[in-house]
Amino acid sequence: MNTKIIGTGYDLPAFAADNDYLATLVDTSDEWIVERTGIRTRHLAKEETTTSMAVRASVQALERAGMKAEEIDLLIVATITGDTETPSTSCRVQAEIGAHRAVAFDVNAACSGFLYGMHIAEAFIRSGIYRNALVIGSETMSKIIDWTDRSTCVLFGDGAGAAVLAGTEEPGILSQIVGSNGGKWEVLECQGRPNENPLNKEERKPGYLTMNGQEVFKFAVKTVPVCVEEALEKAGVAADEVKYFLLHQANKRIIQSVAKRLGQPEEKFPMNLDQCGNTSAASLPILLAQMDEQGLLQRGDKLVLSGFGAGLTWGACLLEW
Ligand code: UT7
Repeated sequence: MNTKIIGTGYDLPAFAADNDYLATLVDTSDEWIVERTGIRTRHLAKEETTTSMAVRASVQALERAGMKAEEIDLLIVATITGDTETPSTSCRVQAEIGAHRAVAFDVNAACSGFLYGMHIAEAFIRSGIYRNALVIGSETMSKIIDWTDRSTCVLFGDGAGAAVLAGTEEPGILSQIVGSNGGKWEVLECQGRPNENPLNKEERKPGYLTMNGQEVFKFAVKTVPVCVEEALEKAGVAADEVKYFLLHQANKRIIQSVAKRLGQPEEKFPMNLDQCGNTSAASLPILLAQMDEQGLLQRGDKLVLSGFGAGLTWGACLLEW
């Protein structure tokens, strides 16, 4: 049994903040942000929530898949910015879309979360436990950003992307690689609530995202090409046979470096980071859904999805569209 993506969807908040807007908040400039990252605007949530964006992306993905919510067996939301500590965002999405038959849970693997979700979904479908899955990446990064820290606040955006996966005899996912290195957890982190129990009156605010940007940059340019090559090798597919490499939309320079290391032309590496910034777990499914919407994906095209993020975590997925 193979696993194929049969529908995609995405949602972005209505408000788009350009670099000049951020320059009114912190000491930065459009020139610095564009040159170092390639980002020009990012969408920021006002009314929207992690749940509401996930719901809209899911409804679109189900519509494009020609499926009803009640047919979904497995519902996974990849997020680090759920609206509630408990229940999971996935349970709230389940209720809102009416996927009452599904088992629903969240995955926390930061920007690699969507790839982790795909990995889990494929394992369940291939084993015959479930027939299909709705995998969503949804993030409201703006609520964990320190809006006084120019080194992080210019990078991230909010949004959601979703994909419906189903078991099929046709080729679909050809190989997947995921990895974690918890030894480097401090490189990119966001502390949770302080412990205010009677024994431990921890006096600090709930955490904001902090990052050693250069460490993450070095990790990304080293790890992403290796895991992409592993995924290709596992399936016996050459890089030249791949139509598009969809990489986590964090930084244009990271994507250019990976293209170079893989010996592939930059045109094969689509980008939306100029418009969306880094939307963490939502980054890959938003890009995929936008390309699908624009009619850029043809049946039989080989695609690679690859990302990296806090944990540290990483992953790559080779599939036939
Ligand atoms: O999903 C995973 C998430 N994380 C990533 O992908 C991040 C990977 N890392 C990066 O993308 C880059 O490291 C950054 C874009 C975060 C930073 O770029 P960089 O070229 O590594 O810059 P830097 O940290 O070395 O900083 C260079 C200078 C510093 O000033 P000094 O010390 O040279 O005077 C920073 O203070 O740029 C300064 N700077 C800024 N200046 C204007 C840092 N942020 C800004 C800013 N505007 N927003």
